[in-house]
Amino acid sequence: MCGIIGYTGKSHAEKIMLDALELLEYRGYDSAGIALLHQGGTEILKCTGRVKDLRNLCALKKPEGFCGIGHTRWATHGGVCDANAHPHRFGRITLIHNGIIENYRELTEKYALEGHLRSETDSEVVAAVVEHFYAGDPYSAIRRTVLKLKGTFALAIMFDDQPGKIYAVRNVSPIVAALTGDGAILSSDVAAIVPFTTDYFVVPEFHVACLKPDGIELYDLSGDQAKIDWLKVDWDVSRSGKGGYPFYMEKEIMEQPEVIRETIQPRIRDGRPDFSQEQIPDEILSGCRRICVIACGTAMHAGLVGKSLIQAMIGIHVDVVMASEFMYNDPVVDKNTLVIAISQSGETIDTLEALKFARKCGSPSISIVNVKGASIARASEYVIYTNAGPEIAVASTKAYTTQLAVLYLLTARMAMARGLWSDEKLSDFMKELQRVPEVLERVLETKEEIHRLSGTILNARDVFMIGRGLDYSILLEGSLKLKEVSYIHSEAHASGELKHGTIALITEDTPVIAVVTQEKLKSKELSNIREVQSRGARVLLLIKENETLDEGEKWSCVYRLPKMEDPFMVMPASVVLQLIAYYVSLDKGLDVDKPRNLAKVVTVE
Ligand code: F6R
Repeated sequence: MCGIIGYTGKSHAEKIMLDALELLEYRGYDSAGIALLHQGGTEILKCTGRVKDLRNLCALKKPEGFCGIGHTRWATHGGVCDANAHPHRFGRITLIHNGIIENYRELTEKYALEGHLRSETDSEVVAAVVEHFYAGDPYSAIRRTVLKLKGTFALAIMFDDQPGKIYAVRNVSPIVAALTGDGAILSSDVAAIVPFTTDYFVVPEFHVACLKPDGIELYDLSGDQAKIDWLKVDWDVSRSGKGGYPFYMEKEIMEQPEVIRETIQPRIRDGRPDFSQEQIPDEILSGCRRICVIACGTAMHAGLVGKSLIQAMIGIHVDVVMASEFMYNDPVVDKNTLVIAISQSGETIDTLEALKFARKCGSPSISIVNVKGASIARASEYVIYTNAGPEIAVASTKAYTTQLAVLYLLTARMAMARGLWSDEKLSDFMKELQRVPEVLERVLETKEEIHRLSGTILNARDVFMIGRGLDYSILLEGSLKLKEVSYIHSEAHASGELKHGTIALITEDTPVIAVVTQEKLKSKELSNIREVQSRGARVLLLIKENETLDEGEKWSCVYRLPKMEDPFMVMPASVVLQLIAYYVSLDKGLDVDKPRNLAKVVTVE
């Protein structure tokens, strides 16, 4: 969470930082600020609100300088106000921080800071500790400070008497750095670096990077120079903009056929699933007795679909655990449990910590991650990258469907590794998987029809979503999507559970979205729909194109999904639910890409 940027070089730092903060705003948008270090001293401009508010402030104050750090905040310690916005300054130190310092109270006491701090943040405490240790050697001050900190941090620090230099250090929270051609840049993620270069490196944990106008130096905490491991951004850089769409969310929904193709095609050889590029040995897939998926939010919902697929097709038990709860439920994982961590950002701290714990217990692990080189990818034994490209809208869409695509591939490879399927069955499954992109294209062609249907819930206060089995799993995701971007209270329910309590809430004012795609569950699902209809609910039904419906019944709103084999119906149905959420948010005039209180990368527990 929080976007951080730093630049030193020949260009005007304030312009570079403001542009970068706009690209990083999806990481947090409670307040924003920049600091510039120049001959006349250090100048800080910060305010609550969005980067555009900071831009207005800069237009008024006209700050100038060639070395600076900037921040866009997702509030953790201390409310949303100007004083708590970053950068923070104490004595000769100016600093920005992403993460949480757990022992900030003890540090406040130890260094007698009470009464000297201007904000309520843990970050200002860090600035004060650096100042305490600073006697002309930045490395030594940073080293001594870092040894006192408990928690997670990505810090970018400027010292008043070190012109042109920015120091960076981190634990868990990410920092990447690069050369721009006329200087050096650091950021919390590559989104801000891509406009300058495709070569970058991840600052290793507990190393100090020093950015200077003519290069970058890296040292470990004992003061020895360290080698920089350069990486290459392999995103299609043209994917970074909105591509003519009003919001990233729409653009990212529309990109799904293409990015799913890009995720599956490189992993199919001779019509069979192939993970040789990832060097995943078949033994890891054939040897495990159970699987534990750890993930949060949308990624966890992808895991639920994976569970249904693997249990049904491979016949082994799969647990899907909310990563944030994993540690608190005395997890039982061992060398016979394959752990699959799913994360778009690859930085979600709950998922990362759960994965590290599982590895300590001896579990083999595979992560499914979108961002190359991210912490979760590095912490797991094997990694499968979803090739979704940058996902900027806070609400995840294309990352989810590419995660599903990987889970289909893994299921098929597992069946192969265990010798469970005939050649014919494997070939049918893989052909159907390769049909997904064209089926999604058909759904996307009907987006105006979906827009019209979304009108049926536009003014609702509460929406219920019902389905069984796989339909229920995708409704959990559909419901999350709707509530996060439209602020409509929505709940997904396994339709058979309704009558055990929740049906009491169904009235003519609670629209219900029902998904019926699983042949074996159809008649039961339709009976559950009749139960809510008879309580007055208006139902929007998503059903396969070939299904016959009883003409005598009141089907006011029906969307016909292109037909696929049942296990794959998740794909077209999910895209319809994404579009419904998108259009409701759009028609309510909300900031679709940046829903309130949220941030794209969740690096706090
Ligand atoms: C919702 C959404 C979140 C994320 C969750 C995990 O649209 O995006 O629920 O799925 O915060 O994030 P990652 O996948 O980055 O670990």
